[in-house]
Amino acid sequence: MNLIVAVDRKYGIGKDNGLLARVPADMKFFREKTMGKIIVMGSSTYMSFPKRPLPDRENLVLTSKPENYPEVTCFENIAELFAYIKDKHEDVFVCGGSTVYLQLLPYCEKAYVTHIDEEFEADVFFPNLDELENWEKTEESDVVETNGYNITFAVYENNDIREMN
Ligand SMILES: NC(=O)c1ccc[n+]([C@@H]2O[C@H](COP(=O)([O-])OP(=O)(O)OC[C@H]3O[C@@H](n4cnc5c(N)ncnc54)[C@H](OP(=O)(O)O)[C@@H]3O)[C@@H](O)[C@H]2O)c1
Repeated sequence: MNLIVAVDRKYGIGKDNGLLARVPADMKFFREKTMGKIIVMGSSTYMSFPKRPLPDRENLVLTSKPENYPEVTCFENIAELFAYIKDKHEDVFVCGGSTVYLQLLPYCEKAYVTHIDEEFEADVFFPNLDELENWEKTEESDVVETNGYNITFAVYENNDIREMN
């Protein structure tokens, strides 16, 4: 299982249940990375998508109210989610929001982190991977300019992956 996220300088990821900025190169990266794969998200992130479910991906939603989302596969806890994805062959990408990242981070092998070189007024955050002992940055792209923002694409690897059981 992998994770994909876009963060600002303070690891902010969102505000008012929306993204912090429109970052076209990151949207393209997200689409390319997750296309044909399984994506896992919390109900708030799912509801934040203008068009849902996201096309050409299997959308899995964590929620205590599955009856509200009959169009997607829902799970009421992470044990149920793990039982479902255990036998899947497609890659699984955790794609937010903050509550789901926090719960699933220990189980992820890699984190694809887009760094946006800005400081926004965020109200939800991602853990600072540069400060976590078991996470190591293994790749970082050159700076890309997109919609007036400077961004870089980084890959972090988890040296202490927790078993999904
Ligand atoms: N920058 C990025 O890359 C990025 C990516 C994704 C999201 N975001 C942003 O993050 C924000 C949303 O994040 P958030 O933390 O507020 O919400 P969230 O994590 O997307 O969703 C929270 C909801 O998920 C459900 N949930 C979480 N864990 C669960 C569990 N173990 N079992 C059952 N249900 C569970 C609950 O739904 P119920 O209340 O339905 O029970 C909970 O209220 C938005 O601003 C969004 O734009 C940013």
